Amino acid sequence: MFNSTLIDIQDLNVRFPNRGKPIDAVRGISFKIFRGETLGVVGESGSGKSVTSMSILGLNHIAGAFVSAGNIIFNSDRLGSVDITKLENQEIRKIRGREIGMIFQEPMTCLNPVLNIQLQLYEALETHLHDENLNLKMRMLELLEKLRIPDPVAKLSQYPHNLSGGMRQRIMIAIALGCQPSLLIADEPTTALDVTIQAQILDLIKEMQSDFGTSVLFVTHDMAVIAEMADRVIVMLDGKIVEQGPVGQIFNNPQHDYTKKLISAVPKIGSMTGKKNPEKFPVEY
Ligand SMILES: Nc1ncnc2c1ncn2[C@@H]1O[C@H](COP(=O)(O)OP(=O)(O)OP(=O)(O)O)[C@@H](O)[C@H]1O
Ligand SMILES: [Mg+2]
Repeated sequence: MFNSTLIDIQDLNVRFPNRGKPIDAVRGISFKIFRGETLGVVGESGSGKSVTSMSILGLNHIAGAFVSAGNIIFNSDRLGSVDITKLENQEIRKIRGREIGMIFQEPMTCLNPVLNIQLQLYEALETHLHDENLNLKMRMLELLEKLRIPDPVAKLSQYPHNLSGGMRQRIMIAIALGCQPSLLIADEPTTALDVTIQAQILDLIKEMQSDFGTSVLFVTHDMAVIAEMADRVIVMLDGKIVEQGPVGQIFNNPQHDYTKKLISAVPKIGSMTGKKNPEKFPVEY
């Protein structure tokens, strides 16, 4: 179904130097993300999901980590086939935001509290789109409408603290998807939201994905969300991938004990049929 490789991660190892006692948070993992697919990433807290996401964004250094081995080959529209682990900061900046977008659990960490929404959208779109003829304000309003943000004109002049959590999340998605990235990294994007808003946000991600053909790397603790969103799944444990495969295979025929444990508390795939929103349930690790 999906066969064109967008990103190919080979034997990736990410290390925290940790004052002479290095910790390898990611230990020799390999996986691909194909164009247009959603790859779900599950695994217990501390298993290396966010460190993996940050590696793809070339942002490990922020937490003090570095790629100690392996490659992240990205088929960039602008730069051709590049190894993200070998790029200079200046080159990564050309890709991050424009070709690889990101959304996180807490939108306030992405949004600037002292800028109104218009300025933040403007900054995101303007730095990434250099089409002189594009009417940026029109594009902003279009985006906000697409994300079903009520009263978009008024929203533009508001500040992040004026908005609800769900609205902030939508603005972050608008910023991330505004420049139509080929990859969206979503790290627990809906965990902090109530279940109805969560379902709406997931629908919006899917809709934008089908409009723009975006691939999504979707990190979550919630196996119901995985069943709903992912085409394929990778299961992480202690910095390694213990299992990966199509979502149906992971749910119906899990091989690794850890995967079996993860899904034992989960309704069967297809149980969403006839239901409008996914239902939340606890998963103990
Ligand atoms: N700032 C840090 N300093 C030192 N080690 C860190 C740091 N951040 C992460 N680590 C190490 O990296 C490992 C993986 O962390 P990561 O944030 O990727 O986990 P995660 O799978 O995203 O967990 P969660 O589900 O809680 O978000 C941790 O177990 C820890 O050993
Ligand atoms: Mg994390």
